[in-house]
Amino acid sequence: MIAVIPAAGIGQRMEASLPKQYLQCAGETLLDHSIAAILAEPRISKIFLALHENDHWFANSRFADHEQIQVVQGGASRAESVVNALSAAINTFPSDTLVAVHDAARPGLPLKLFSELLDVVNENPEQGALLALPVHDTVKYSTEKEAAANGGLTQTKDAGIGRNIVNKTLVRDHIWLAQTPQVFRLGDLQKALSLAAEQGNDITDEASAMETLGAQPILVPGSKKLLKVTTPDDLALIEFYLTTEQN
Ligand code: CTP
Ligand code: MG
Repeated sequence: MIAVIPAAGIGQRMEASLPKQYLQCAGETLLDHSIAAILAEPRISKIFLALHENDHWFANSRFADHEQIQVVQGGASRAESVVNALSAAINTFPSDTLVAVHDAARPGLPLKLFSELLDVVNENPEQGALLALPVHDTVKYSTEKEAAANGGLTQTKDAGIGRNIVNKTLVRDHIWLAQTPQVFRLGDLQKALSLAAEQGNDITDEASAMETLGAQPILVPGSKKLLKVTTPDDLALIEFYLTTEQN
């Protein structure tokens, strides 16, 4: 089994002075936490790490010269970065190799969950699997914006225009929030992501690309610790998760 870590993003929403994967948290960078979490699983023999072409931070990582890590150039989107890494991997690994794709921005991966996920995919390699979180809130579905305040009867200057309105309430038990790692066969995933790119689909995870090829990936319950660090207020939370032992 191998892994891909897309770490070529610029972290726009974090508004920091460097890409968020290089922010320090609980003793080391978010990226180093993510790499360490993947390498902790002995079944992973190699990590293909996608970095931005102008990256000058990874050279300072404790993993910079690690023999199990191969750096590849990232792309303009997360999906492109993953495709670049898969193209490098397919040169040295058979197409039925299982590949775990894990966001650099999710540094809190518990080893127990990663191992459980790999066990599930080993049994079901053609389906693949991902960690995902059941939701506890009531989920509203909204595709529409209100026309105006007061049901559109009175013209009030700018009042209410553009606010989202509820179309329906979804059945919460059917909703899962996709996390990573997501694990599929190398050849299948490369085909799925390349096809999605050709069709211009805006793919934000591996499972959705696989679904377009008819796959039915297995959902393995994930963890809040797997929070994707996105905005500044996520930093205090991830620090808490990285310094506490519970899953
Ligand atoms: N990523 C990547 N290549 C890109 C864009 C994103 O490898 N062109 C990676 C990020 O480094 C991150 C993961 O994909 O580990 C998830 O993406 P996201 O959380 O959106 O990170 P950024 O794109 O860096 O953040 P933002 O969207 O706020 O700019
Ligand atoms: Mg992004």
